[in-house]
Amino acid sequence: MSFDFKVADLALAEFGRKEIRLAEHEMPGLMATRAEYAASQPLRGARIMGSLHMTIQTAVLIETLVALGADVRWVSCNIFSTQDHAAAAVVVGPNGTKDDPKGVPVFAWKGETLEEYWWCTDQALAWPDGGYPNMILDDGGDATLLVHKGAQFEEAGAVPATDPSDSEEYAIVLDTLRSTIAAAPGRWSATAKSVKGVTEETTTGVHRLYEMAKAGTLAFPAINVNDSVTKSKFDNKYGCRHSVIDGLNRATDVLIGGKVALVAGYGDVGKGCADALRGQGARVIVTEIDPICALQAAMDGFQVSTLDDVVGIADIFVTTTGNFNIITAAHMAAMKHQAIVSNIGHFDNEIDMAGLGKIAGIEKINIKPQVDEWVFPDGHSIIVLAEGRLMNLGCATGHPSFVMSNSFTNQVIAQIELFTKTEEYPLGVYVLPKHLDEKVARLHLDALGVKLTELTKEQADYIGVPVEGPYKADHYRY
Ligand code: NAI
Repeated sequence: MSFDFKVADLALAEFGRKEIRLAEHEMPGLMATRAEYAASQPLRGARIMGSLHMTIQTAVLIETLVALGADVRWVSCNIFSTQDHAAAAVVVGPNGTKDDPKGVPVFAWKGETLEEYWWCTDQALAWPDGGYPNMILDDGGDATLLVHKGAQFEEAGAVPATDPSDSEEYAIVLDTLRSTIAAAPGRWSATAKSVKGVTEETTTGVHRLYEMAKAGTLAFPAINVNDSVTKSKFDNKYGCRHSVIDGLNRATDVLIGGKVALVAGYGDVGKGCADALRGQGARVIVTEIDPICALQAAMDGFQVSTLDDVVGIADIFVTTTGNFNIITAAHMAAMKHQAIVSNIGHFDNEIDMAGLGKIAGIEKINIKPQVDEWVFPDGHSIIVLAEGRLMNLGCATGHPSFVMSNSFTNQVIAQIELFTKTEEYPLGVYVLPKHLDEKVARLHLDALGVKLTELTKEQADYIGVPVEGPYKADHYRY
């Protein structure tokens, strides 16, 4: 069997396979889902294009989708987040060899250029038989964006000229669409029609989906996986609590204890990061725009201030807002010598990297991959991680398997829902019903030795819930 793919080096597959084997044990939700659906094959006929960090954990997700019958093509949703051994192992597959790969077409390697990134996304959206995907599994919404923009421009009759105010990346998206539409006119409209739905992994991608739904431009239904409780209250929080420190350590190995760390944003990601940094003995300062989250941070014992007020005293900066222009070039110029500047939010525009590069006389010294020292004309410098892209995946390996098992079990269930019950999901953005959220949590209890108390029938009646759940109203916030 031969198929198209592009990864760094298939010789890394054996290492990847060993790590996948260890990860499977740490991903009980995914493995239980494989067992539950092995016979019924609910994803048979599904052509899933996935755009999500190509890590070891994602390899277990991909192989679960395949085990349920799906035909899958994959890319990473970030230029730095691919683990090359994971990508190689997925291409080779459990039964292939590097000379005779039998796995899944992956187009991803660590350190893509932006042009390569969008080329990969295009490749994974094009089925080799000339057909189209009928499902998308997205993280951050880039695959969804390419299909929507492509269909929109085909309908309008032309891709607009690049505007000088467009970002470098958007200019590349426009170029990609120009060339793909020229090569296969009507392809994006056909893809948008073929896709039954998208399941979206993260806060930023979900935000884009609700905006499209509001504007009336959403082309297919979506399940917001991020807002399953067992996703955002676990991956975003406990995952980042783990991987923010991993990113800092692998990039700099600076002692965190005693330092002043600034966490911008106190949502789910911010809460995990602030907790972890405090756990290392840092004095943590939080910035927020939302009075509720600011009050939470204060009551959790953190100083809450503005970036302008404390920019000169912090040693470590982590942005977690999903917003843009949080740390400006002027902020960076005002930082302490060798302050560490990093972002763990989805896109790189939380830190004004373009503005930093435009400071007259600034010099960039590459220390090692994904770690740069920027020296200002006055001689002081700052250390920027992963060029302002998500540092936990750029400088380390992202979240560990156990927490990703929760997120990805939601993903698989959401794919099954949209693919097998398409008519129950008219155009719109949905979250999974609570009984499925509770099911995901239940699948992870045994591995941690959790002994759950069972409601008596009388107790269940008293609080007005079924003995077997769901136990909370939809508006409950956890
Ligand atoms: P969230 O909405 O729960 O939290 C973001 C917080 O930032 C909010 O409380 C908001 O009020 C605050 N904020 C917005 N603008 C601000 C500003 N100018 N200054 C200070 N605070 C501001 O979102 P969540 O779930 O915490 O996600 C944050 C970002 O992290 C998103 O881009 C998401 O996609 C990404 N993410 C990254 C992960 C990773 O592994 N690197 C994992 C999960 C999410």
